[in-house]
Amino acid sequence: MFSTRLPSDLSPNRLTQAVERLRAEGLEILDLTESNPTRAGFAYPPDLLAPLADPRGLMYAPQPFGALAARCAVAADYTRRGAEVEPERIVLTASTSEAYSLVFKVLCDPGDEVLVPRPSYPLLEHLTRLEAVVATPYDLEYDGCWSIDFGSLDRALSDRTRAVLIVSPNNPTGSFVKAEELAHLAALCASRQVALIADEVFADYELKPGVTGAAGRITARQDALVFSLGGLSKSIGLPQAKLAWIAVGGPEPLVRSAIGRLELASDAYLSVSTPVQLATADLLRTGAGVRAQIRARVARNYRQLLECGEHAPVCRVLDAEGGWYAVLQVPSLGSEEDLVLDLLTTHHVLVHPGYFFDFKRESYLIVSLLAPEQTFMQGILRILRHFGCSDWPA
Ligand SMILES: Cc1ncc(COP(=O)(O)O)c(C=O)c1O
Repeated sequence: MFSTRLPSDLSPNRLTQAVERLRAEGLEILDLTESNPTRAGFAYPPDLLAPLADPRGLMYAPQPFGALAARCAVAADYTRRGAEVEPERIVLTASTSEAYSLVFKVLCDPGDEVLVPRPSYPLLEHLTRLEAVVATPYDLEYDGCWSIDFGSLDRALSDRTRAVLIVSPNNPTGSFVKAEELAHLAALCASRQVALIADEVFADYELKPGVTGAAGRITARQDALVFSLGGLSKSIGLPQAKLAWIAVGGPEPLVRSAIGRLELASDAYLSVSTPVQLATADLLRTGAGVRAQIRARVARNYRQLLECGEHAPVCRVLDAEGGWYAVLQVPSLGSEEDLVLDLLTTHHVLVHPGYFFDFKRESYLIVSLLAPEQTFMQGILRILRHFGCSDWPA
């Protein structure tokens, strides 16, 4: 009776079941998977959401792309990050996930393919499948830093490829797509008449000074059709505001064709609320303080993790350039699944296994850098002790 866009087995995985069981028993878990900034102890200004009560919100005047003033505010935010985008090329959406679905609708027929990085964010698999699109992986390789394996990307391309997707910085590897990589990708996309979709939700979170400057400028491309995706959920740590965007770039005729189609698709949903559109400029301005706190925390936690890694020879902290996550390579003494279950049930530390993110090999642990510093350090020290670094305090 049901569509194959959704899995037939809806039961929770073993890790989720174990977490639920331990929480029901009242056990305190050090959660190093937290990705919700509103639960991570940041000081949000109490009046941050006051602009949502603007009385102009009592009037409904729907526009497929959102109000021009809100689109101008998003364009100004791109300028803050050193990118120039005309407000007319910005489309508002309720979330980055929704932005993906609109772009897939505009580019793909059922069964068409989108190339996605591996390892990367597991939701990409679901978002493509929900649009009846096939996610075909291309590899990111690690040799002290991450880079795109262009050989695997060439092999993944087919007649049904409609877009190449990049996440910059990537979740969870923290790697930015470098300027040379972007130039190569854009030339490839232009020659095959496929689009480039760039998820830049973590673009504000540089862990290594200077990497943003060395990264490619996606919206400035003149050769390929590009879609840059971003949103308030990460840029000011406010996922519940439900505001995200698509910035379209590339050759003018292609941009015009894409925008016309996005307009039709957006008009069918009109999903962005009027209050959030009226509040966009204020939210972006006041939310900068939250962004600064998140930035400081993730940078501090990553520094601490690197320091711990130096004293734990059996574990390796992989190089991260940005974002909210870090990757720890650990000895493969058993399966990753058994390892994360063991860390949870024995040491009460919750981390994600690499296979959730489609790492090609075992064993990797993914830790969120968003957790409060003390929780983060305690959790990391327990993991290191598990691997025999017993000179660490409990
Ligand atoms: C790489 C990446 N893109 C998109 C999203 C979804 O963002 P939104 O909350 O705006 O849908 C996430 C959420 O964690 C993410 O990690």
